[in-house]
Amino acid sequence: MLKDSYPLYLANEPVMTDESLEVLDKYSGKVATKVALAGPREIEAAIQAAHDAAPAMAALKSYQRRAVLEHCVARFRERAEELSEALCIEAGKPIKDSRGEVVRLIETFRVAAAEAERIEGRVLSLDNHERAAAYFGMTKRVPIGPVSLITPFNFPLNLTAHKVAPAIAAGCPFVLKPAEKTPIGALIIGEILAETDLPKGAFSVLTCMVENAGPFTKDDRLKLLSFTGSDKVGWMLKGQAGKKKVVLELGGNAACIVDETADIADAAERIVFGAYYQSGQSCISVQRILAHKDIYADLRQALVSKVKDLVAGDPRDEKTFIGPVISKGDGERLKSWIDAAVKGGAKILAGGKRDGVMVDATLLESLPKDCDLYRKEAFGPVAAMEEFADFDEALTRANDSPYGLQAGVFTRDILRAHRAWDRLEVGGVIINDVPSWRVDHMPYGGVKDSGIGREGLTWAIEDMTEVRLMVLRRTDED
Ligand code: SIN
Repeated sequence: MLKDSYPLYLANEPVMTDESLEVLDKYSGKVATKVALAGPREIEAAIQAAHDAAPAMAALKSYQRRAVLEHCVARFRERAEELSEALCIEAGKPIKDSRGEVVRLIETFRVAAAEAERIEGRVLSLDNHERAAAYFGMTKRVPIGPVSLITPFNFPLNLTAHKVAPAIAAGCPFVLKPAEKTPIGALIIGEILAETDLPKGAFSVLTCMVENAGPFTKDDRLKLLSFTGSDKVGWMLKGQAGKKKVVLELGGNAACIVDETADIADAAERIVFGAYYQSGQSCISVQRILAHKDIYADLRQALVSKVKDLVAGDPRDEKTFIGPVISKGDGERLKSWIDAAVKGGAKILAGGKRDGVMVDATLLESLPKDCDLYRKEAFGPVAAMEEFADFDEALTRANDSPYGLQAGVFTRDILRAHRAWDRLEVGGVIINDVPSWRVDHMPYGGVKDSGIGREGLTWAIEDMTEVRLMVLRRTDED
């Protein structure tokens, strides 16, 4: 059950403001709760507080940062069912997937707690020349300073965790703007952080309207912007971010290759999961299925029968696999993309209909190469098959995309696995599974329009810290 209203968190404190934002139950379309809205005054106060808190955050010892993260892990465990239900309502995420996301939230904080103790430096011999014979150096990593975090609607808990947990592990104060459609998860994380001893001003969680969000990108007191969301918005923000470091985790239209050596039943099972779980609203959802001509018909048959069996409906129902998409507008967009593809010659193999926010799990083939479903990110329960004759040709076609986040390759041929790893223009190649596969401690991010930089705790902490060198001269060697 959601509360009637949720405060924002400004400099570690809960605050109710004059303005509030209604959060909809994404399945029923009814108002589920409301949250306090931050305006320019609260945003300015939060950024100043983060700036002022930077020395105290940097002074925290690793055991203290770890203790904060471990407190969160314990509290998430205690509140797991409440978090899952909130996610199910605010994101329309089927309850089973919501519970899965809470497990990942816990894992992300647990790994961050361990990583907090592993932020280490190096000893460098600098004596590669006579003039440096008496010198050696040491590096350590220091926090970059206050960071700005902007999170998307599709994983309101775990993609927030992927920014908040490394910021705490690294010793960076942060201001966080959760997605307006799904702010509850981040606000509950804020509530739990408010129970800790983090220095005053160390964190703010501010739901706000886009028109007021400029300072999250532009303010120079913030030293890093970490954004997850659409490629259009992400690259625009990068252009406005001034001197700060920018990490962008953006979209994709992921390809999954199935060659003639693959186990077809296994590939079909995994592809159905990877294309349709949480209604395809994941940046690494399978959108393009490239199947070798010798197994194409068998794979198509297996996929069609599985897609037709998927249970759609109320996300609270334990049996539901396909819940709503995030808004009616997205439902309309997806339906218009499907219709345009069919007009251009595509054939629907399963699904194809829409009723409000409910979009059928849809499988197509013979997409025209210039249609939106082929070129753009669908972010919905829609995937399309195409046939190839030669593995290298499949790699070339998988690369025929503005995006490059992750790709999947089903093959039993180790040389092909290596060739895919060499040639696919993506951040991660998943062999014998779907591109949608992720564990939270692996490096995660893309190339091309899919972004810049990597998340995954070790890599996020690296971005949120800087190398500081100390050079020592041995005066007894002069
Ligand atoms: C994303 O949509 O980028 C995140 C996918 C995941 O964490 O599984």
